Amino acid sequence: MTLRLVVLVSGSGTNLQALLDACADPAYGAEVVAVGADRDGILALERAERAGLPTYVLRVKDYATRADWDAAFTQATARHEPDLVVSAGFMKLAGETFLARFGGRYVNTHPALLPSFPGMHGARDALAYGVKVTGCTLFVVDAGVDTGAIMAQRAVEVADDDTVEALHERIKTAERAMLVETVGRAARDGFTVEGRRVRFGQP
Ligand code: GRF
Repeated sequence: MTLRLVVLVSGSGTNLQALLDACADPAYGAEVVAVGADRDGILALERAERAGLPTYVLRVKDYATRADWDAAFTQATARHEPDLVVSAGFMKLAGETFLARFGGRYVNTHPALLPSFPGMHGARDALAYGVKVTGCTLFVVDAGVDTGAIMAQRAVEVADDDTVEALHERIKTAERAMLVETVGRAARDGFTVEGRRVRFGQP
């Protein structure tokens, strides 16, 4: 059984591209079936279109309320019957409806070692704090902000002369490897979430 992935994006889509490249190998065990976004005009959508994938874009400002957007985004995602939804640079928090539908099989990659530096600026906040080691985290999304059970992490050293951009690019290199390895493992072995622990393998 090939794991059906829907990938959610908001930017350049290099994490999406890493997954697309990995899925080209049938032994990987997963396929990207659609790409969803909260905005138009991003390189990630061009990557999806180049791969011949269906895409959908739902902008929050086109809906009367955030809850309306969340319900519509849930339906648009469900239409593709994902086994796993992967947020790869998606910059919107999932609402109740989305989590009710996909909770437990909705994962997000974050450019910091959670629980440190949650939120929109993980790399910037780590650099500003002066940590010597930061990194990236893949976690199962829950109702909090970057608080879900952790599936994988990779450490990245901070250089003395690092800028936010240089550090984030180095984090993203580690992040793409973490994402590809972990999603592949989930596809081949399955995973379960027990409290704050994620266990791979069939329950
Ligand atoms: C990634 O570092 C992700 O963790 C963060 O934004 C970046 C998106 O990069 N939220 P890309 O769009 O996958 O290139």
